[in-house]
Parts: sequence; structure tokens; C-alpha cells
Amino acid sequence: MAELAEQHIIAPYDSSWYHQGCALRREVFMDEQGVSLEDEFDGKDPDASHIVTVQDGDVVAVLRILCLPEHAKIGRFAVKKTLRQQGIGSRLFHTALSFIARKGQPNVMLEAQLASIGFYEHFGFEAYGAEYLDAGILHRAMKNY
Ligand SMILES: CC(C)(COP(=O)(O)OP(=O)(O)OC[C@H]1O[C@@H](n2cnc3c(N)ncnc32)[C@H](O)[C@@H]1OP(=O)(O)O)[C@@H](O)C(=O)NCCC(=O)NCCS
Repeated sequence: MAELAEQHIIAPYDSSWYHQGCALRREVFMDEQGVSLEDEFDGKDPDASHIVTVQDGDVVAVLRILCLPEHAKIGRFAVKKTLRQQGIGSRLFHTALSFIARKGQPNVMLEAQLASIGFYEHFGFEAYGAEYLDAGILHRAMKNY
């Protein structure tokens, strides 16, 4: 089978790539996981950097990065359901960590759904603090520092 060309694109807020990433977020977080529109689109997108993975013109993965004074925060991380477990998420996560490192910020945190903690542990992140509900889903904070 021919390999699909894969690109990671930094999607400016309100660009077409950003909106295609939002469509994937709606598909994964709202339709698949039952997150509300208000929780998914929380007003922080204009202040974030957005990266999408594009395969043959289609957005197949997305995440956003918020650069805060004490750390960068990765969130809204999703891979199209039919394409999971093929390394797409890992490659996008690596790209996000390199993007953050280029900004000179070594400290990264995220709020992990309990089911995804194992994924982030592959990248040296460790969970800390208590479990909590966010958008109706159990989470734990994780950091790499
Ligand atoms: C979490 C997510 C982004 C991972 O993307 P992916 O493309 O499936 O991940 P990869 O194929 O790159 O997996 C990389 C490694 O992590 C492992 N992994 C993937 N998802 C995992 C999970 N939920 N828990 C534990 N390990 C996981 C894979 O088995 C693989 O391990 P290996 O290298 O030893 O084989 C994807 O499952 C997803 O979109 N989930 C729904 C949305 C979501 O819950 N996002 C996270 C919110 S915190």
C-alpha cells in the first residue's frame, strides 16, 4: 500500500486549517465523548497555537498549545477514530513538544483523561494531584518537569 504524505501544519486561529481541526474536535470530543459545545469551545482558542496533522488534504489529528508563564499546556488532542493506534498521535505530540521547545519553554503540562495517561507516560509525563471531573470525564494533571 502506498504511504500517505503526512504534514504537520501550524493553523492560525480562524484559518481554514483551524476550522477543519475544530470539525475533528466536534467529531471526537462532542459526538464521541459527549462533551458540550461550551466546554469544548471555552474561549481560549484565540490565545492558543493550533497544530493539525494533514494526510492527503484531510485533517486527521489536532491539538492546541497555550503558552502560560509557568509552562506550556497541551490540550484538545484528538486523532480521527478510524486512524488511531497507527502512530499519528505520537508524531503530532512530538511536533508539539518541538514547537514548545523552540519557544524556549522546557515545562509542559496537560490534563489527561484517565484512559490516556498511558499514552503520555510514553513521553515522560507523570500524573500528579487528585483525579477530577472536567466536562463530565475523569482527568488527572500530568507534567514533564
Ligand atoms: C489519545 C490519542 C490522541 C492517541 O493517538 P494515537 O494516534 O491513537 O496514538 P499512537 O498510535 O501514536 O500511540 C502511541 C503509543 O501510545 C499507546 N496508546 C495510544 N493510546 C493510548 C491510550 N489511550 N492509553 C495508553 N496507551 C495508548 C499506543 O499503544 C502506542 O504504544 P506503542 O508505541 O507501545 O505501540 C487518541 O487515542 C485519541 O484521539 N483519543 C480520543 C481523544 C482523547 O481522548 N484525547 C486525549 C484527551 S486527554
